[in-house]
Formats: sequence, C-alpha cells, structure tokens
Amino acid sequence: MLYTLANSSWLDTFSPQAQKSAIDALEGGQVIYLPQLAFEFSAAEKELLTPRILGEGSKNISYNPTRKTLKGVINLEKDTHCLKKMMARYSSVSDNLLNALFSRYAGSLMKGRTSFRPIEIAGRATSLLKDDTRLHVDAFPATPNHGKRIIRVFTNVNPVGKGRIWHLGEPFEQVVEQFLPLLRKPLAGMRRLLFWCKVTKTYRTLYDHYMLMLHDEMKKDAFYQRRVKKTVVDFQPGTTWIVMTDSVSHAALSGQFVLEYTSYLPPHAMANVEQSPLFILEQALGQKLIDS
Ligand code: SIN
Ligand code: FE
Repeated sequence: MLYTLANSSWLDTFSPQAQKSAIDALEGGQVIYLPQLAFEFSAAEKELLTPRILGEGSKNISYNPTRKTLKGVINLEKDTHCLKKMMARYSSVSDNLLNALFSRYAGSLMKGRTSFRPIEIAGRATSLLKDDTRLHVDAFPATPNHGKRIIRVFTNVNPVGKGRIWHLGEPFEQVVEQFLPLLRKPLAGMRRLLFWCKVTKTYRTLYDHYMLMLHDEMKKDAFYQRRVKKTVVDFQPGTTWIVMTDSVSHAALSGQFVLEYTSYLPPHAMANVEQSPLFILEQALGQKLIDS
C-alpha cells in the first residue's frame, strides 16, 4: 500500500533504479510515502494556519500557477500576498519533486492547481457526492480530463501534531468489476448540452462520464463503503505522500491543514499504460472511450 522513501529534501535527485521502482509503485496503485519530507513555513506563514482566511462558502483555497491567482480566500491584502507566495512555493517544489522522481514523465507532466485545506474534515457538513470521507476515485463533474492521469502530492502541515487519517480501498480493477453493472451509457446529446451550457469546462468524453459514474456509485453505496476491505493510514504532520488519485480508491476521514499539488499526465507517457484507468475501463467496457 505504501512505498516509503527516506528523502528529506525537495531538491533531491534519484538514481535511474530508484526512479524505476518508484514509477512501478506509483502506477501500480501504491502511495509513495515520504515520512521525512516536511514543508517548512516562515513565522509569517504560520499565521495563515486558520480557517478564518477562507472566503465565504469556500472549503479550500486554490492557487492557479498559470494565472498566479488565488481562489477561495477572504480579501485580506497582506494575507493574500503571503498565502500566494507560500502556495507558489509549494507548487514549485512539488513539481520539482515529481520531475526528479519520475524523470521519464518530464516534458509530459502538466501543472495543475495547488490547494490549501484549512478545515477539519471530520464532521464537515457536505453533500454525499462531495463527501471525501467515503472511498472514491477522483473524477470531477465540471472538469473532464480526457483520460489524463491525476497525480497528487500532499503534505500535512498541521501545527499541533494532528495526523491526516486516510482509508485506502481495493485496487482499481476490483472497483471496476464491482460497479461495472451500474455503469450506464450517457443519454444521447447530454454531454454536448452540458458543454454548450458551460456546465462542463470542456467536452465530457465517455471516459469522463464513466469515471464520474464510478466516483458517484462508490460514494452512494453505504453497504460497499462498510464492507469493502480498507486500510487506515495516519499521515503525520511533516510527512508527504504522492498518489494517482484517479485510480487509487481513497478517503480522508479526519485532519486539518494540508497542502495539495495536482499534476496531469497523458496515459501514453506512463511506463505501464495498461494500468491506466482509461485502458482498464476500455477493456472492461469493450469500446474506445475518448470520443469527441
Ligand atoms: C481527497 O482527495 O479525497 C481528499 C484528500 C485530503 O484532503 O486529504
Ligand atoms: Fe479524492
């Protein structure tokens, strides 16, 4: 479940053999766990460790590295500047780490957003489909990703010793086998309409449709959530972990203050493309899933 690396610097380099083993672990559905890799805050940045910096109605603060903008933050000039610098730094060191550890992906990795999550997860009021305390694979209704892998870097930055408690569920192939009978075809014309009405940012491919169904059906099934085999992992403050959240069944049960960086990877850049959700779903459904 966990593939542990003892590195304690974001600037480390990795031998070809170390990279190969890490890639096989990552693509094989393990979590790359770096228990000694902390993300340090300056004294001023420590002031940001409060949910009060969230804008009204926001769960997270997100940083867009292309536009260099923040979303979800309350409008405090001083904090905004400090927060943006901190999140830009996290985005940059995480991106360096991914490129160093998985240099075979270099040139193919696409930078996504960084989020700062300052709310306690346990007991947070949310709708069932947004409830990340239930096991799920990541798929997002408004942002189709057309088969690209989602690679996420997380660091627990809790200042008072509180772990981030996760569940890890069964392998993706088994999730698919379990929910295959429930994967219905999309209604004719629906995905065009969603795009036309700007409900989705880009066209929702069949891949995105079925991934979203998997995500939703997993969360909706209380019996499955109870009985499926799962492992509890306690990610302590000062630890970092990397995971392909589109294939690894995961849930975050409790914890407060985490940083998360998202990167995307076209499946053809993988070492073992047959382990991509796109390949596995295409095999299971017997059809191509990237349509237009
Ligand atoms: C998730 O990706 O489902 C939540 C992870 C977290 O916030 O720890
Ligand atoms: Fe998730």
